Amino acid sequence: MKKEIKKDLFYLGVNDRIKHKFEALWPLPYGVSYNSYLLRDEKNVLFDTVDSDYSGLFFRNLKEALEGRKLDYLVINHMEPDHSGSISLLKTYYPEVQIVGNARTIDMLNGYYGITEGLVCVKDCDELPIGKRVLKFFLTPMIHWPETMMTYEPTGKMLFSGDAFGCFGSLDGGITDAQLNVGKYWNEMIRYYSNIVGKYGNPVQKALCRLAGLEVNVICSTHGPVWTEEENITKVISIYDRLSKCEGENGVVIAYGSMYGHTEYVAETLAYELSQQGVKNIILHNVSFTDSSYIIRDIFKYKGLIIGSPTYNNQLFPKVESLLSQIQGRDVKNKYFSYFGTFTWAGAAVKRLAAFTESGCFEVVGEPVEMKQGMFESVEENIRLLAKSMAEKIK
Ligand code: FEO
Repeated sequence: MKKEIKKDLFYLGVNDRIKHKFEALWPLPYGVSYNSYLLRDEKNVLFDTVDSDYSGLFFRNLKEALEGRKLDYLVINHMEPDHSGSISLLKTYYPEVQIVGNARTIDMLNGYYGITEGLVCVKDCDELPIGKRVLKFFLTPMIHWPETMMTYEPTGKMLFSGDAFGCFGSLDGGITDAQLNVGKYWNEMIRYYSNIVGKYGNPVQKALCRLAGLEVNVICSTHGPVWTEEENITKVISIYDRLSKCEGENGVVIAYGSMYGHTEYVAETLAYELSQQGVKNIILHNVSFTDSSYIIRDIFKYKGLIIGSPTYNNQLFPKVESLLSQIQGRDVKNKYFSYFGTFTWAGAAVKRLAAFTESGCFEVVGEPVEMKQGMFESVEENIRLLAKSMAEKIK
């Protein structure tokens, strides 16, 4: 069945509700879609393919949308295998197709699939006439690989954006935001951005500046709904803009490890005191139970971050250490940061958390709280002071 999004533009994508983890790392509670599109004109152009697990369905979609026409071009906006996985088979089924990409794409095509012929190499701002329409290419490296680019079609004001503006979540029936209840996608967009693209805030900012002059009526990304409603297009772009600048909403994430509940009690007390100070968005994550992708999502989403850990083998609790490493790997910045630690006979957690702040990416707020063994009035008072300092910054 062919799925026409608007005149001459067809959706060929597939839904993956089988994979447990995207990139073998990130849980997919709502699945994920791999989007591909066909634009019909005097020349017929395919934009990206899909994961090889879904090639069969994809080629059926392509054949139905072509309705016997020739496939002239494949434009590759992104080479990661969830989008390039069906290219080898495409060359087998459509040997005359010309593959359009930039120099880095072409290098990867050879490296991954041994394809060296039938290529059209484009540079930034190059144009390709396809009949009544013209395609214009914008190189947008590191969103999210070095070869990534976007393709703009000015007549329909369509932007084929690659991973940018994408999100987790399968497309259940509808394809466009006008056909779907999009509520479930917003938090999944933040989780997708923060975990997959989050390291590349500066390239995202550069790309957004370049796109600022373009009128866009349709965003065709490689994951999630096709965005067509003006208010959603504005919202999607503003989410990417805000997150890439690490601008958070009012709120505090408290991420903690706890073996026997003592460190958790500090976290709970801190949360209560923050609430007494008028902070309403307080998100507690026990690092042993919440998948780190949700913690990273919320760290990007909110302004305040407090991390707590017991001392474990004279180090941090391992799951807290792992979270710190993930934060560092994503270049998170512009957060208000506080920390606390607990110990039984020799405290190391607070020292290690203090060392974490030395990168200077965060503004340290208040005095860290350290608790030996159990809760005493003096510790409670320190928690109260820390909560007050953080609340003042957040508000
Ligand atoms: Fe959806 Fe970077 O691949």
